[in-house]
Amino acid sequence: MGSQEKTVLVTGGAGFIGTHTVVQLLNDGFRVSIIDNFDNSVPEAVDRVRELVGPELSERLEFHLADLRNKQDLEDLFSQTSFDAVIHFAGLKAVGESVANPRRYFDNNLIGTINLYEVMAKYNCKKMVFSSSATVYGQPEKIPCVEDFQLMAMNPYGRTKLFLEEIARDIQKAEPEWRIILLRYFNPVGAHESGRLGEDPKGIPNNLIPYIQQVAVGRLPELNVYGHDYPTRDGTAIRDYIHVMDLADGHIAALKKLFATEDIGCTAYNLGTGCGTSVLEMVAAFEKASGKEIPIKLCPRRPGDATEVYASTEKAEKELGWKAKYGVEEMCRDQWNWGSNNPWGYLSEP
Ligand code: NAD
Ligand code: UFG
Repeated sequence: MGSQEKTVLVTGGAGFIGTHTVVQLLNDGFRVSIIDNFDNSVPEAVDRVRELVGPELSERLEFHLADLRNKQDLEDLFSQTSFDAVIHFAGLKAVGESVANPRRYFDNNLIGTINLYEVMAKYNCKKMVFSSSATVYGQPEKIPCVEDFQLMAMNPYGRTKLFLEEIARDIQKAEPEWRIILLRYFNPVGAHESGRLGEDPKGIPNNLIPYIQQVAVGRLPELNVYGHDYPTRDGTAIRDYIHVMDLADGHIAALKKLFATEDIGCTAYNLGTGCGTSVLEMVAAFEKASGKEIPIKLCPRRPGDATEVYASTEKAEKELGWKAKYGVEEMCRDQWNWGSNNPWGYLSEP
């Protein structure tokens, strides 16, 4: 059966990575149902997905306003449609908020996911692609990070990812017919090349690139650079930034792998580029792409931050046949195209 006949449920499909992935799924011929409660997204994002794929493919997209914590919502959905697989993005992801309010994270991320597994099992849909994170490597002792490293949680958000990886492994072990792929994203940035989709954080951004973008459009005065005394080439911390369109394509590769591989079990793959970029290098690349100066303030290190994190990409390349295409230059170009055309995100004005 080709993509044409497959129907995929995308939880959190109105969010940053979800919208970009849904566009690629529809372009690849899948039918898609999104479930989202708009906790961290807006209906306009889904409208723009429809606009980008056009009226014909748009007919293959359904949207359901629902919360994964409400099992009845899920039951209703699964009783109406037969899903071939689920891509599970829905979750809360702000590290600082998870430290201040861990119960919110355990409730949303754990209960929501456990409900999803229950209903999937009941309706015999046992193929899952799960959004994990490089956060499960904690402060890696060695780099690049390889999938079989020991895992560690640094905060309640990271603990939800670690627990959910363990839960996935346990479920698959007990019920071998499950096929589960855990995708560990490194640092997703960039936007759809059209400039119509991108990341639209609520409040002051926690992550580097959305923060830089808001400085560039004048919403924030300067970037705080957290730590300039790391043992790295310029003293700032190093991360593996990955273009969100490469990530989206990584999900399609994972989905195809699930359909094609009976004995995939529960397998984790890194989605990164394998290249490390420092905070100051990222600032310089963004300045070049935008033509804007980004004023910086050197600040103390942010607690819990690792010095250097980047992915080993070998396993995903070999087994999924997927490799990131874009570098930092394209990431900043597309980020700026989105940011300059949508300075207030999906809202037309503040
Ligand atoms: P996002 O917040 O933009 O998207 C998540 C979506 O899930 C949002 O639209 C939100 O409204 C929805 N959602 C949350 N809880 C829900 C619930 N209970 N029921 C229904 N919908 C719900 O985040 P994103 O950046 O697109 O991230 C997607 C996934 O990838 C998350 O699980 C996140 O933890 C993981 N991840 C993200 C990053 C990153 O830097 N963006 C890195 C590693 C992993
Ligand atoms: N940084 C700054 N100034 C900022 C924001 C970030 O200097 O205003 C620095 C950080 O100190 C870090 C680098 O930029 O050295 C990247 O920071 P991000 O917050 O963008 O991303 P992290 O690598 O710290 O990872 C965080 C969480 C992860 C999560 C990831 C993606 O710690 O758990 O974001 O959401 F997976």
